[in-house]
Amino acid sequence: MASAADSNFTFASLPHPAPVPSDTRDQALANPGFGTLFSDHMVMIEWDAGIGWHDGRIGPREPIALDPATAVLHYAQEIFEGLKAYRLSDGSMALFRPEENARRFNRSAERLAMPEMPEDMFINACLELVKADKDWFPSVEGGSLYLRPFMFASEPFLGVRPAKQYKFLVIASPAGNYFKSGAPAVSIWVSSDYTRAAPGGTGAAKCGGNYAASLVPQAEAIERGHDQVVFLDAAEHKWIEELGGMNLFFVMDDGTIITPPLGGTILPGITRNSIITLAQEEGLTVREERYSLDQWRDDANSGKLVETFACGTAAVVTAVGRVASHDGEFTIGSGGPGQLTTKLREKLVGIQRGTVEDTHGWVKHI
Ligand code: COI
Repeated sequence: MASAADSNFTFASLPHPAPVPSDTRDQALANPGFGTLFSDHMVMIEWDAGIGWHDGRIGPREPIALDPATAVLHYAQEIFEGLKAYRLSDGSMALFRPEENARRFNRSAERLAMPEMPEDMFINACLELVKADKDWFPSVEGGSLYLRPFMFASEPFLGVRPAKQYKFLVIASPAGNYFKSGAPAVSIWVSSDYTRAAPGGTGAAKCGGNYAASLVPQAEAIERGHDQVVFLDAAEHKWIEELGGMNLFFVMDDGTIITPPLGGTILPGITRNSIITLAQEEGLTVREERYSLDQWRDDANSGKLVETFACGTAAVVTAVGRVASHDGEFTIGSGGPGQLTTKLREKLVGIQRGTVEDTHGWVKHI
């Protein structure tokens, strides 16, 4: 049992009695894609009102039996995180800024009326899983072990109020490229019929409902031949917000970078925050301010805007080459990754993989 202040939480260890045979696993690890392959183990911790966090265990990854009245199935009281474990150039393992994920998880929990988790408990759950599944790192270039911590309301109850029981889990998924094509630059559809988040809503929380609401506009983008959808603000349908799973950066010809400000409707990306720091270290000015679709089009057409890139844990840093809306299309720069996009991506990935010095203490060695 643990209270919110307790960091000495221990996990019962139940090793998988029949893990995936090593030859099958290693074959899969050569081409993992994103989100379809899973490791042998998972972490599970229970929370009950009046008890707090208890019964932490790391055991075989397996289905969870749920009562049909389980609250999450009806009212979507669920939050998650995404972070990656890396094999460093010296063969050791590390996480990237996991304390930031732990903090954001608790901010999401607060917004969704869910219990907070001690940061140490969150981080240790991730570390324990990586240790148990250390043989699940992909062999493919750029591969990592993507961790998915999540929590949901597990109480069987149909009244609309915060649940009195929750489950927290961490699963691990060996990951290669997020985009199927390996995407040197993605093409984006601007959704004018749907919005992702409104002021006062849950846009800044990492909750499943935000992603469910993005599926129809995302499908529309794909149908129209694009990779991703970009959302505009809910009030004026004018200002660029984010892609749903990635934040956006606009690079001007004088080296100024603009990124939409966090104001409750945008997810505070950890990659976004890291990129702002790295860009400032390059001597660039980063302005967190609103940028409209009209400005984006005009600046791309005049040549004032030279690059646009999207970033997130899963997609890392990905150039945006082409943008389309009901008003027509425009291309950014050459349509491929620009110099700064490539430089910032290489620096970030270098820090994550231990080939560039980590002057910020971002890398948590395991
Ligand atoms: C991530 O980058 O970790 C995300 O959460 C985006 C997406 C895979 C949901």
